Amino acid sequence: MQNIAETLKNNNQEHLLEALNKLSGAAREKLEKQIEAIDWEELSRLIREYVMQNPVTTIPADLAPASYFPLVPNGAEQEELYKKAFEKGVELIRAGKTAALTVAGGQGTRLGFDGPKGTYPITPVLHKTLFQYFAESLARVSEKYGSRIHWFIMTSELNDKATRDFFRSHAFFGLPEDTVHFFTQGFMPAIDYSGKVLMSAGDSIALTPDGHGGTLLALRKWGCLDLMKKLGVEYISYFQVDNPLVPVSNPLMLGLHAMENSEMSSIMLSKTNAFEKLGNFCVTGGKLQIIEYSDMPKELAERTTNGKLDFIAGSPAIHVISRSFVERLTAGGKLELPWHRADKKVAYVNADGVEVKPEAPNAVKLESFIFDALPLASSTIILEADRKECFAPTKNATGVDSAESCREMLCARDARRMELAGIRIPRKADGSPDCIVELSPRRVFDDADAVEFFKSNPAQAPERNSSTAYG
Ligand code: UTP
Repeated sequence: MQNIAETLKNNNQEHLLEALNKLSGAAREKLEKQIEAIDWEELSRLIREYVMQNPVTTIPADLAPASYFPLVPNGAEQEELYKKAFEKGVELIRAGKTAALTVAGGQGTRLGFDGPKGTYPITPVLHKTLFQYFAESLARVSEKYGSRIHWFIMTSELNDKATRDFFRSHAFFGLPEDTVHFFTQGFMPAIDYSGKVLMSAGDSIALTPDGHGGTLLALRKWGCLDLMKKLGVEYISYFQVDNPLVPVSNPLMLGLHAMENSEMSSIMLSKTNAFEKLGNFCVTGGKLQIIEYSDMPKELAERTTNGKLDFIAGSPAIHVISRSFVERLTAGGKLELPWHRADKKVAYVNADGVEVKPEAPNAVKLESFIFDALPLASSTIILEADRKECFAPTKNATGVDSAESCREMLCARDARRMELAGIRIPRKADGSPDCIVELSPRRVFDDADAVEFFKSNPAQAPERNSSTAYG
């Protein structure tokens, strides 16, 4: 107690001591435990550097655009390389050397949905949830390649129980239960603008997930790296819970990653404009680095050569990561990735015990980002992908990057696949489907699957304005 009191005083957090002194029994123990779990000296440094001032990102003078493997191979040699890489990727999947990793620990505040984001109903016809969509995709890939793909799902303390309960109550969507592994990321206290740690209840600090950069250390902490090793998993396909369009397993990317001895690889999309809200793939000091769109200087973002943006490569947060890389980075049980400041609305309990729900951002959340591991990799590659086939982020309820736009993109992709299988799709003047279609990810993982599926399950052309699910 003496220690706790001193620590809190030394770090300007006396209000926590006052809160503690009002408690007894289990409630007191709970808060004491939370306080003891925090490295207060380090937190005070972070508060000084990230909360009491707005940290400025320095842009290295030698910043240059990163090179990448293009979507369409640039000649016969590269075409051959892609073919070999695809085959290699399939071989790795078949051999059980790959696993899927979904980061689902975020709070999804922009979507404004009550519950883990993965439980959000996303498909346009059957309203399958994000988790179900991924589960069915993984079941199909496992079936297609005669493999047993393990799925690692990162939760946070705030949504871990709800996530596990959701899977249990849906019988893991048909996946073998022992192939689904949950693990929980770390947390950081939310700090108000005067540098004080906020409380979410009389006996609890307001804890927020520590960002998707927390994945790496959490994988070690919860024994996932050991488990992967035991299972023979060497490569991790990393994707975000809010992007159902992502292929849960990408043979070309996996194969290129392995053949090029990359430690961490990334998918890139050609940005639609200089200021699109995607991280920019850049190189500095010979190392790959992502510079956030908000930190990219305007003149660099706008710079063009022959009419094409120099910094064209944007990140949709899709990676392949070698298990050995994560093992190396976290070997000492520590990993220091840079922190990023996010200003958020955080509900809290004030000194009088009254709950406050702010209308405007009132606190700073500190997060680390997975892409800050890129400069730590000895070797990296970037592969361009077609946005229509892999990126439909569900960040907001409506508008840009929303549930609405995501549903449209899922439908557009499936309509295209149906046409490939010889089924006529009614289209509007602007080219978009004039019907809603949904292919089951349990039956159709890729274009070839779609052709096969409709060969054995012939279907009529959908009517205009109709809404149909297949499979
Ligand atoms: P976002 O950066 O979009 O954050 O996360 P979010 O928390 O989901 O949504 P907002 O900003 O509150 O609206 C991108 C991905 O990273 C995961 C999210 O679950 C999502 O898949 N993530 C984010 C974590 O797993 N942990 C975190 O601490 C933050």
